[in-house]
Amino acid sequence: MRGVRQRVLRIVSALRLSALGLSVLSLNAQAATDSNVAQSGPHIYERCAGCHSIEGNRTGPAHCGLFGRRAGTAPGYDEYSQAMRDSNIVWDERTLDWFLTDPMRAIPGTAMGYAGIKDAQERLALIAWLRTATRAGQACRLNR
Ligand code: HEC
Repeated sequence: MRGVRQRVLRIVSALRLSALGLSVLSLNAQAATDSNVAQSGPHIYERCAGCHSIEGNRTGPAHCGLFGRRAGTAPGYDEYSQAMRDSNIVWDERTLDWFLTDPMRAIPGTAMGYAGIKDAQERLALIAWLRTATRAGQACRLNR
């Protein structure tokens, strides 16, 4: 009887240890994901850089000051489609995620001829990086 009890106790403590091991593993995985996000943001933005830059208006509008700004209102950019001007969107994590998934479907008639980013993790990483990189007056200067 005592032997059985001891064996059960041993199994229980082994289980506890492996549970602890697992939670340490998942903490590490979380940290790895966070730093991947920081590293992959600029890398993913390279897909946008044919048309966009943070500070300068190019084929597409400059992204400095993007968060909290109404769509179609980047200073000094005159090439907006009527669809973008009329969209009434304010850019934030949620609206960017929706738009960047499939831009031409989200805003029919947009002048942004780009198929979108289908991978949710990539959108998340890009948008998290953009939030910091587009902070006007801190990370970048606004056009005037
Ligand atoms: C082929 C060129 C092109 C590429 C590639 C491109 N864009 Fe654009 N983007 C544009 C143009 C042009 C507009 C203006 C669209 C309009 O007025 O309908 C625009 C508009 C935008 C807007 C709205 C900005 C505002 O001021 O309202 C956002 C946000 C945006 N792009 C993000 C991105 C991101 C992020 C990527 C990369 C994942 C990207 N774009 C890739 C050309 C491009």
